[in-house]
Amino acid sequence: MAVREIRTFPADVLKHKAKPVKTVDDEGLQQLIDDMIETMHDAPGIGLAAPQVGVSKRLIVLDLSSKDAEIPVIVLINPEIVEADGLIESEEGCLSIPECVVTVNRAERVKVRGLDREGKETEIEADGLLARALQHEIDHLDGLVLFDRLNSVKREFVKKRYLKALKRAERKGD
Ligand code: NI
Repeated sequence: MAVREIRTFPADVLKHKAKPVKTVDDEGLQQLIDDMIETMHDAPGIGLAAPQVGVSKRLIVLDLSSKDAEIPVIVLINPEIVEADGLIESEEGCLSIPECVVTVNRAERVKVRGLDREGKETEIEADGLLARALQHEIDHLDGLVLFDRLNSVKREFVKKRYLKALKRAERKGD
């Protein structure tokens, strides 16, 4: 296992629609899953999508055990939201947009279908933080980041502020 480098906005890989995983029984894919889990724990974060470590594949990992011990580590391959209802507003951050927290709207409940790491079909019904985290990570697979969930006025403002802070940090050699 290895911690991989987390790509940060505006990296190109974060803006592309990721490709479906074709073969689950693949050493490289299993290695990627292990590395993503380790990278998520190291960050630390509650979720990570493959594009965030520079791999444009439809794969996400989540670990909400720090918030809810009942929920095990989740690995989802080719996840799809098949049902969504309700609307809820809440603050969100992203490992690919460090030190930026924005308020976004999400569905309150979702049903997500995908494959687990053994290739078995699996379905998750979620509300609360898990529903939000699933939607956030699946957005990454569609080339969307938090900024894309804001209205256009707010988006430009928040994006500009973030990019300015980034430049300042780069100048400091951070
Ligand atoms: Ni994110």
